[in-house]
Amino acid sequence: MSRSARPEGWLRDCRRLLALGLIVLTQCVLAQDGRRFEDAAGWAATFDSAARDAWQKPDEVIHALRLTPGMTVADIGAGTGYFTTRLARSVPAGKVYAVDTAPGMVAYLKERVVREALENVQVVQATSDGPGLPERVDVVLLVNVQGLMVSPGDYFARLKESLKPGGRVAIIATRVEADRGTRSEMRVPAERVTDDMLRQGYVLDAAHDFLERQYFLVFRPRP
Ligand SMILES: C[S@@+](CC[C@H](N)C(=O)[O-])C[C@H]1O[C@@H](n2cnc3c(N)ncnc32)[C@H](O)[C@@H]1O
Repeated sequence: MSRSARPEGWLRDCRRLLALGLIVLTQCVLAQDGRRFEDAAGWAATFDSAARDAWQKPDEVIHALRLTPGMTVADIGAGTGYFTTRLARSVPAGKVYAVDTAPGMVAYLKERVVREALENVQVVQATSDGPGLPERVDVVLLVNVQGLMVSPGDYFARLKESLKPGGRVAIIATRVEADRGTRSEMRVPAERVTDDMLRQGYVLDAAHDFLERQYFLVFRPRP
């Protein structure tokens, strides 16, 4: 090896180590976040607070999704079911899959479904690789889940297989510049989400701007 090649090799090793460190760090943060969502009853006080309605505008969100009564919908990262209950009322002749990776949330959702007699809701334990949906759906909704995904590109590429013809994926997430909401390091800019989705073979179907703290983008697979 020549003398000039040595520093380059050293630099390359350093870069590799740094990249590896970043990957490990990201995985640790995500693993921590997985555990963060185990205390579902504790989170319910925040996720289902009456105060949330003022900025989350759930009725407007549901209206913008253009659901029809017989549709099949998946609420991926359903949490304590803030949107699941509303989706269930919007598709009385259809079905809602309330999907989450955190076993604590899944248990909470199952109890809530029984308590509120949500007969058209089925709770699904997901993995970070995919939602594990038992059938194809018309609409997928993800609210504040984006920044928690391990590999969103691969996830959304595979998700196309879970959509019916004409199916759509709605992504709502905290804006980078929002004064409140998701921790800043977990926020993903709307532009990056759009670029990722276009790269995975989707087209932008709608971009709603009535939520002050969040962007609201709807995608469908490119025909
Ligand atoms: C911030 S909470 C949002 C809950 C709900 N969407 C809401 O708006 O009230 C994020 C939820 O997504 C879940 N989650 C994170 N990554 C996920 C994934 N890859 N698939 C399904 N759920 C996921 C977490 O366990 C947590 O319950």
